[in-house]
Amino acid sequence: MRKIVITTERLTLKEMNHDHVRDLLEIFSDPEAMTYYPSTKNIQETSEWVDWTISNYKKYGVGLWIVEDKKSGEFLGQCGIVPQEVEGSLVMEIGYLFARRAWGHGYATEAALACKHFGFEQMNLPKIVSLPDVKNIPSIKVAERIGMKVEKKIHKWGKDVFVYSVSRSSLEKNQCE
Ligand SMILES: CC(C)(COP(=O)(O)OP(=O)(O)OC[C@H]1O[C@@H](n2cnc3c(N)ncnc32)[C@H](O)[C@@H]1OP(=O)(O)O)[C@@H](O)C(=O)NCCC(=O)NCCS
Repeated sequence: MRKIVITTERLTLKEMNHDHVRDLLEIFSDPEAMTYYPSTKNIQETSEWVDWTISNYKKYGVGLWIVEDKKSGEFLGQCGIVPQEVEGSLVMEIGYLFARRAWGHGYATEAALACKHFGFEQMNLPKIVSLPDVKNIPSIKVAERIGMKVEKKIHKWGKDVFVYSVSRSSLEKNQCE
């Protein structure tokens, strides 16, 4: 039984398991979707990705979740809260990777916004980040649409990435104004 973690107007976010390898391969075998990753992934590497995600669920209670169309159950992509190391500190990142056919519908923004609320309201996180490649404009736009602001540029995963972030205190402050 797959655990539903979040539902939004159009989407369901569910825990990932090895039954999703075939769906995930649609993203991981697509060179265009993987432009900002070191390479595409094969079935074995995709299975290892699922293992890593399940280990995040166990250790942190969160990880990437499978995103489906709420009405049809169609697989659209993955989005969730992922632990990352930034300059020696552990931070929680909202990550999103969608199948190319699902781009341009606002699904990534809708899922990422729901993850932001989950992080602040269910996990009490003080701050959430996103770490887009400096050239990944669609990813940067998602971070900006969910209210993140660029903090700095760092070198991570062998490339330049922006640290986008939003803090809970900034949201609380906005609510008081
Ligand atoms: C990053 C990624 C998820 C962004 O996908 P996306 O489709 O551009 O983002 P969204 O789902 O939020 O859709 C936003 C677009 O849909 C449009 N849109 C259409 N219908 C919409 C609706 N009903 N509601 C909201 N937006 C809608 C928006 O105008 C926007 O288009 P624009 O960027 O041309 O202005 C996608 O490019 C991807 O999966 N890339 C590969 C993996 C990757 O690089 N991930 C990031 C790693 S850091």
